[in-house]
Amino acid sequence: MVRVCSEGEWLVARACAKVNLFLDVVAKREDGYHQLQTIFAPVDYLADTLRVRSGVGFTLSCQTPGVPVDASNLVIRAARLLATRCKIDAGAEFELIKRIPHGGGLGGGSSDAAAALILCNELWGTGLDICELAGLALEVGSDVPYFLYGGVCRGEGRGEELEVLEGIPLPSFAIFIPPWQISTVEAFRHLNPANFNQGGIDAYIADLRSGEIFSSSYNAFEQAVFSFEPRQKDIMQRLRGCGCSVRLSGSGSCCWLLVDEHSLGLEPSLRERIIFPPC
Ligand code: C5P
Repeated sequence: MVRVCSEGEWLVARACAKVNLFLDVVAKREDGYHQLQTIFAPVDYLADTLRVRSGVGFTLSCQTPGVPVDASNLVIRAARLLATRCKIDAGAEFELIKRIPHGGGLGGGSSDAAAALILCNELWGTGLDICELAGLALEVGSDVPYFLYGGVCRGEGRGEELEVLEGIPLPSFAIFIPPWQISTVEAFRHLNPANFNQGGIDAYIADLRSGEIFSSSYNAFEQAVFSFEPRQKDIMQRLRGCGCSVRLSGSGSCCWLLVDEHSLGLEPSLRERIIFPPC
């Protein structure tokens, strides 16, 4: 759930990252998308900040190098879509502080887009409910609807058929951020149907409910990404060789890992790439 507060004429949202604790690809669909079974979990301690106020047209500023600030940014796409569908003749001026790495499988752009929908819905008083916003969110991207709900969710379809899983005692996990990005489209292209439909999501949810987050987790993208990005294989093998319980998030490159003596005891060159949850 995106949290919103006001600061003078600005509305401000905290757009947190996600990981996929479990991600199975069931099949390739006729529309070109893949049918997924996944478990999303929020990363509360890693978040972008998005601010908006009324503006003329749609503008976005962001100081982080490499972030597009034109109409291709999902923030602008989401805001324009809401304005068009609600027949609103209004503009919006956005400021984005980026902390979630791009191309990491942490859903940064999708989270920003969900935040833009929620902020503009409030700024313009368009009054869409969460289901109506979720319909627009899916037009922006497959992961965007999840960020309207947040929490631990089971996702199917493209990831938009969401069930919030209440009462999960989520153990803390850390995020490993490699110094490269993975293209989602490329990762989908390299999927091997032999890795499809492994099943196990219900057993994984049962494990989660008993506090076991890692042992039955799965990500169908790991082998796909290893096949075209050898550095991903090397780094994950290295982390596993040090005893870390580490799993790819989404289509990578970032991974989530258990906070334990292995991850806490890593040598500095690996440890400095990890964001640990606050104590
Ligand atoms: O929906 P989104 O724009 O994030 O998807 C980017 C690309 O990832 C799609 O064009 C498609 O190639 C692939 N994709 C897929 N199946 C999904 C989600 C994404 O094949 N469930």
